[in-house]
Amino acid sequence: MKVALFSTHEFEREFFMRANIPLHHELLFNSETLHQGTAVMAKDIPAVCVFLTDELDAATLSVLARGGTKLLALRSAGYNNVDLEAAARLGITVVRVPAYAPAAIAEHAIALMLTLNRHIHKAYNRVREGNFDLNGLLGFNMSGKTIGIVGTGKIGTALARIMRGFDCELLGYDVIRNPDCIDIGVRYVDLQMLLAKSDIVSLHCPLTSETKHLINEHRLGLMKPRSMLINTARGAIVDAHAVMEALKNGGPLLYFGMDVYEEEDSLFFSDRSSTIISDDVFERLTTFPNVVITGHQAFLTREALTAIAHVTLCNVSDFEAGHLKAENIVAAKGIEARQSTDATASEG
Ligand code: NAI
Repeated sequence: MKVALFSTHEFEREFFMRANIPLHHELLFNSETLHQGTAVMAKDIPAVCVFLTDELDAATLSVLARGGTKLLALRSAGYNNVDLEAAARLGITVVRVPAYAPAAIAEHAIALMLTLNRHIHKAYNRVREGNFDLNGLLGFNMSGKTIGIVGTGKIGTALARIMRGFDCELLGYDVIRNPDCIDIGVRYVDLQMLLAKSDIVSLHCPLTSETKHLINEHRLGLMKPRSMLINTARGAIVDAHAVMEALKNGGPLLYFGMDVYEEEDSLFFSDRSSTIISDDVFERLTTFPNVVITGHQAFLTREALTAIAHVTLCNVSDFEAGHLKAENIVAAKGIEARQSTDATASEG
């Protein structure tokens, strides 16, 4: 099948080429972001493959549908950039990669925790400059600390498993209790209790209307003194301005590690080192010694990219053959069945 891949980055092409060897799709790589203005580039192409920076609003989806696109294959787990109701209305099936490597994201969250705790970012620069002064590098033992996991799905569970190995106490908050997490030793509490008791809070819930700015000024005020907040989920779950103010005012939050940022679309995934960044909150956060920022790279492991490319292209093959895996289909609430049936119907 002909597949137009938008927003493709150098780091992912080899994985898609390799995954495509047995599948024989015609892959059309394109570094353009997909939006209403560029959607015409997919004219007469039945499958469009997108990254989380592409804008799949109703206007873009309408242009795609008019051009004959039938399948939107997300090469991500998150799908908050897609208007699912519009996709269903326009007869576009949406598929994603629900779980490509939960450990990759969990391990990155822990990399941020350890970097902040042991001041690795400062130590790295000091040693390179011949400065072996240890003042200002004091950390704490992870062993015995309480880790609060918000969202105990696949990534939250992977994090819980690793943190148990660190001999940490585990608290969880979720709208659904996960028996795997209970087996690992996670104790479910309400969000207020989790914030009050946790030395480190790590966010692993999706971005929804309920979780937008879940961590706001009020909830930052409920956190344990000298605590750490890690966000590898979605930027808008945290009110970054409120975090900046909390850090400026001396707490209770003391450390902040983030891989995702609410306004990341205009910043991340490109080299902006020669331009002036006009986002004052982001720029201010980069000046804090107790803030570590990575540019949405938690998923960036060999294993994760291999799985993303494989599942994405298998989704295209399955769609073509008319037997999409139900767990890979994304649909707006209430229209799941119709989309699955449509996919099956296209078979014959
Ligand atoms: P999942 O669907 O397995 O788990 C999400 C959990 O959040 C579920 O247990 C769900 O019940 C819970 N949840 C939903 N609404 C909630 C609420 N209001 N409060 C508390 N918990 C709530 O998803 P998975 O695979 O663990 O991924 C989690 C998130 O991680 C994704 O939605 C995505 O935004 C983010 N992610 C980030 C990546 C990165 O590179 N930084 C890569 C992959 C995912």
